[in-house]
Amino acid sequence: MNPDARYLVQPGRRVGGELTIPGDKSISHRALMLGGIAEGRTEIHGFLPSEDCLATLAALRAMGVKVDLPRSTQVVVHGVGAHGLSAPSQVLDLGNSGTALRLFMGLLAGQSFDSTLTGDASLVKRPMERVAEPLREMGALIETHAGKPPVRISGGRTLRAIDYDLPVPSAQVKSAILLAGLQAAGTTRVTEPAPTRDHTERMLQGFGVHVSRDGATVALEGGQRLTGTRIDVPADISSAAFFLVAGALAAHDGLVLRNVGMNPTRTGVIDILRLMGADIRMENARVSGGEPSADLRVRASALRGVRIPEALVPLAIDEFPVLFIAAAAAEGVTELRGAGELRVKETDRLAVMAEGLGSLGVVHELLPDGIRIQGGSIGAGVVDSHGDHRIAMAFAVASLRATGPLEILDVANVATSFPGFAPLAQAVGLLIT
Ligand code: S3P
Repeated sequence: MNPDARYLVQPGRRVGGELTIPGDKSISHRALMLGGIAEGRTEIHGFLPSEDCLATLAALRAMGVKVDLPRSTQVVVHGVGAHGLSAPSQVLDLGNSGTALRLFMGLLAGQSFDSTLTGDASLVKRPMERVAEPLREMGALIETHAGKPPVRISGGRTLRAIDYDLPVPSAQVKSAILLAGLQAAGTTRVTEPAPTRDHTERMLQGFGVHVSRDGATVALEGGQRLTGTRIDVPADISSAAFFLVAGALAAHDGLVLRNVGMNPTRTGVIDILRLMGADIRMENARVSGGEPSADLRVRASALRGVRIPEALVPLAIDEFPVLFIAAAAAEGVTELRGAGELRVKETDRLAVMAEGLGSLGVVHELLPDGIRIQGGSIGAGVVDSHGDHRIAMAFAVASLRATGPLEILDVANVATSFPGFAPLAQAVGLLIT
């Protein structure tokens, strides 16, 4: 990681054209992991070759899974079956990826061998007890370091199914419990306080696992086998979000984003932007491998501040950095509450975004669980992303309304989720170098 990596972005007023955004990160991680413990071959098309997903890939290889990469976006996983993973000879380093670390906790809790999971300077500050606690209830032996990584998992434990009420809406915690539940005796049930992304449940079904849902509760029976399959990964709506906001601000002749994932547990960003007055249309809606997708056409329109409905928060959880930029460019006040989870992402996204907005003269009030942003003008200046990929990209989009050049610091981690962001942004008209 190069802490000196930065973007220089000149103010621009126009974007347009057509884009294919890279593959979905959440789906790419899951395809690798489920492919690894399946029997037989899994082919992944549209894979996201980002640092986070490559960390998952490397961890699987370290546990004896053969993975081929015939092309950067195409992966073949030679599954080893439920009991085929082997002990890694080293600590598994998941880099910046909370998804990789937390899902592996579930996957490794019931294995015969010991393992230790860790990550980079950001990941070792993130809470892991939210996963460790329910896994311990299932019989796992897990130690965290004051609640954070490194996480030590002792092998050879017999897991039992639990009924678990998630205290926070988290797809990572839900997924970890379901992955452990696959190795447990009995039926594991997880109840969510609000809907969160359901890629694990959908994909397990694609691998032949019976998963049932009853209202807010998802359930699966332990001991089911996974059979290798083909996965087509749609473009990541969380990456598309930067261009949805860019388009809403400056696509006077429209901007088209091809084959974007439209899973209803992920589309909160579209709902929020539409509430703000954005003109976003869906075309060519389709479903492949259990995941819906569509082409999105966005056109510039006048945005207005809104009070963001709390029910949409988990459905847009990763898109708030760029939504705050939309709010800064809108007319009137935008208020977000009920979003305390943003404080435990790759950075404290409420605090780091507030600092960056402040650097550009955007009037705002930081709240314990949200923020209030006075829209209007965005100034010029230097913004520190604190190594948070989504914050770096969000401020690049702010250039479309900035009064002068923006310098965005510490942007190397953009490669964790969106390799090639700067050239793509340039291709549609952002003046980024
Ligand atoms: C993810 C779940 C979300 C999200 C993260 C990816 C996933 O995290 O913020 O980027 O792939 O399951 P939480 O489960 O912590 O909300």
